[in-house]
Amino acid sequence: MRTVCMLNSGEVHVWCARPEEVGGEADGRRLLAADELERAARYRFECDKRMAVATRVLLRTVLSRYEAVAPSDWRFFVERYGRPVIADGRSSLRFSLSKTEGLIACAVARTVDLGVDVECLRRRAPLEVADHFFAPAEVAALRALPEPVRQGRFFDYWTLKESYVKARGLGLTLPLQKFSIVLDEGSPRIEIDPSLGDDGALWQLVQLKPTQEHVLSLCVRRRGRQDVKVVLRWHPDTALPAPVNS
Ligand SMILES: CC(C)(COP(=O)(O)OP(=O)(O)OC[C@H]1O[C@@H](n2cnc3c(N)ncnc32)[C@H](O)[C@@H]1OP(=O)(O)O)[C@@H](O)C(=O)NCCC(=O)NCCS
Repeated sequence: MRTVCMLNSGEVHVWCARPEEVGGEADGRRLLAADELERAARYRFECDKRMAVATRVLLRTVLSRYEAVAPSDWRFFVERYGRPVIADGRSSLRFSLSKTEGLIACAVARTVDLGVDVECLRRRAPLEVADHFFAPAEVAALRALPEPVRQGRFFDYWTLKESYVKARGLGLTLPLQKFSIVLDEGSPRIEIDPSLGDDGALWQLVQLKPTQEHVLSLCVRRRGRQDVKVVLRWHPDTALPAPVNS
């Protein structure tokens, strides 16, 4: 089997795809494991079933670009709080998945924890959610903005918070009010209440606009002082990869 992509330890590759351009039902039957197909079949709406299948087809196809493993041969293990990881110690690859209307994202790195989250900006931001789930500093910063700006900024906070939640792999056992995203000059940062036993300086946050209609946030554990290099790639890869930072 031929692998085509190199992934250095200082890089994260973020693969994006339009759901309709990933595999359909036939690819799902060919590539997915029985439990993945069962999980997809449990969705009530056809569009959600298709999205669940497409997400796993993308994951398997992306992983096989980096290792000599066929897409159908990957096995996954679900951790205690729901995070899927590669089973059997088969690879040092780590991944994170997210899907929203019109976009699927799959971020991959070597050995480090990472989380990705995407949202479609066409939908109305549920601003009332912020009062219940965001940290006080985030709520105050949102309230200080004029209404049209607040809509987009809500999704910045939401996806960045969710990317950290995913990178920690603890699901919603992580109290959302106890860490705060700081959006000022430069890259986003995270401030974490000491009670969570974590340090915001250990995490690099990156935000991308893969399309006019989507926002994508990535959270990756730093290896040292240097920033991780983030590369955005599209599946199918008809265009050259675009470096995001270096
Ligand atoms: C399940 C959760 C990880 C994300 O769900 P989501 O945002 O609704 O859905 P996304 O499509 O972005 O992400 C789903 C993927 O997250 C991954 N995932 C699930 N549990 C995870 C965990 N504990 N840690 C990391 N990743 C996880 C899975 O790969 C899943 O895709 P899969 O089912 O095909 O494997 C979780 O954070 C959640 O329930 N969020 C609800 C939304 C919320 O309240 N967010 C607060 C933000 S302020």
